[in-house]
Amino acid sequence: MIGKLNHVGVATPSIDEAVKVYRDVLGATEIGEKFSMPEQGVWVCFVTLPNSQIELIEPYGEASPIHGFLAKNPAGGQHHICFEVADIIAARDDMRAKGATVLGTGEPRIGAHGTPVIFVHPKNMGGVLVELMETPKDPH
Ligand code: CO
Repeated sequence: MIGKLNHVGVATPSIDEAVKVYRDVLGATEIGEKFSMPEQGVWVCFVTLPNSQIELIEPYGEASPIHGFLAKNPAGGQHHICFEVADIIAARDDMRAKGATVLGTGEPRIGAHGTPVIFVHPKNMGGVLVELMETPKDPH
């Protein structure tokens, strides 16, 4: 059912500071530009690794959904993991049929990779917030 691990989401109070860790300490060389997703309430920056990506997310605006996470984890921390699925609607319906809680309205939103995503509540996922993302038709 789930496909590739697409990325690991890491919340941070400062993408600029977090990038220093990935670039200067860990030696990552492929680091994208920071960009805002106002409707999701986050700044986003992707660190590309040979087999996956780290998605750095920083609050954008007062209503950002990650303020609560950072209140509990002031230094930042691992926030979610994202798996690819072939069909987001089929995946959502499958999650619901299996009793899992899809966050929000359940209508997929366009994620940071430009493809539809949903989030599944950690209570159904062994304590991990899981993002399911439709596999990009045109992989980068
Ligand atoms: Co994500």
